[in-house]
Amino acid sequence: MTTPTAVITGAASGIGRALAEALHAKGTRLVLADVDADALSATATRLGATGVVTDVADPDAMTALAEQAPRARLICLNAGIVGRSLGAPWEVPPGDWDRVFGVNVGGVVNGLRAFVPKLLATGEPAHVLITASLAGLAVFPGGGAYGPSKHAVTAVAQHAAMALAGTPVRVSMICPALVATGMSAEGVEPGVVAENALRAVDDGVFAVLPAEWEDAVIAQAERIVSGQQPVPPVPRQD
Ligand SMILES: NC(=O)c1ccc[n+]([C@@H]2O[C@H](COP(=O)([O-])OP(=O)(O)OC[C@H]3O[C@@H](n4cnc5c(N)ncnc54)[C@H](O)[C@@H]3O)[C@@H](O)[C@H]2O)c1
Repeated sequence: MTTPTAVITGAASGIGRALAEALHAKGTRLVLADVDADALSATATRLGATGVVTDVADPDAMTALAEQAPRARLICLNAGIVGRSLGAPWEVPPGDWDRVFGVNVGGVVNGLRAFVPKLLATGEPAHVLITASLAGLAVFPGGGAYGPSKHAVTAVAQHAAMALAGTPVRVSMICPALVATGMSAEGVEPGVVAENALRAVDDGVFAVLPAEWEDAVIAQAERIVSGQQPVPPVPRQD
C-alpha cells in the first residue's frame, strides 16, 4: 500500500500546523503550503514534509501547488486571515474587504478549482477539509470583513458537498470558536481542533462546531426567520 499524501494550506502556524503534526504522527506524507516562507520552511523541515510557498489568493499558485501533489487524497484548505479592521461594515476599507475575501474565500475556491477535478479523475476516495469558523455560521458584532468572508466559506463548502454527492470525494468543514494561534491569544489548543477535524474526516461528518454554540446558531436563524432584529449569539452555559 502506498503512503497517503495530504496537502495543507496555512500549514506554518496554528490549526494548519497542528493538522500537519497530527497527520505526520499517522505516517501521512505532507505537502505544506503557506505564504510565510521562513515559518513554512521550519515546519516542513521538522516534519520531513515538502514545503511550497503559496499565496492561496493566487489561482495560478494553487494550480502549481496541486501539480506538486498529484497523489494527495486529503486536501486541507485552511489558510485564513482576520484583516486589519475589525469595525462595522462601512468602517472596513475596500482593500481590507478585498484581501480578506481574497484569502479566506478565494483560497478555498482556488483550492477546489485546483484539486477537485484531479481528485475526481482518479476515481478513488478523497476528502477536502475546509477550515471555516463559528463566525461563518453565526453573526457576531464587529470583526470587519472576517465574519462575512467565513459565511461565504461555509456556503462554498455546502455547495461543494452537494455537488460532490455520489462521487468518491467528500467534504468536511470545521467551524471552531476561538483557538489559541497566531490569530487569537485565547481559546482551545489547535491540537484539539486538528484531532476533531481528522475524526470528522474519518467518520464522514460534514460540519464540526463546538457543542456549546449549537443552540446559538439555531436561535439566531430562528430570529431571522421570524422577522426579529438580530442580537449577538451567546454560548450555552452548562
Ligand atoms: N484562531 C481562531 O480563533 C480561529 C477560529 C475559527 C477559525 N479559524 C480559522 O483557522 C484557519 C487557520 O488560522 P489559525 O487560527 O491557525 O491562524 P494562524 O495565523 O496561526 O495561521 C494561519 C496561517 O495561514 C497563513 N496564511 C495567511 N495568509 C495566507 C495566504 N494568503 N496564503 C497562504 N497562507 C496564508 C499564515 O502565514 C499562517 O501560517 C483560518 O482559516 C482561520 O480563519 C481560526
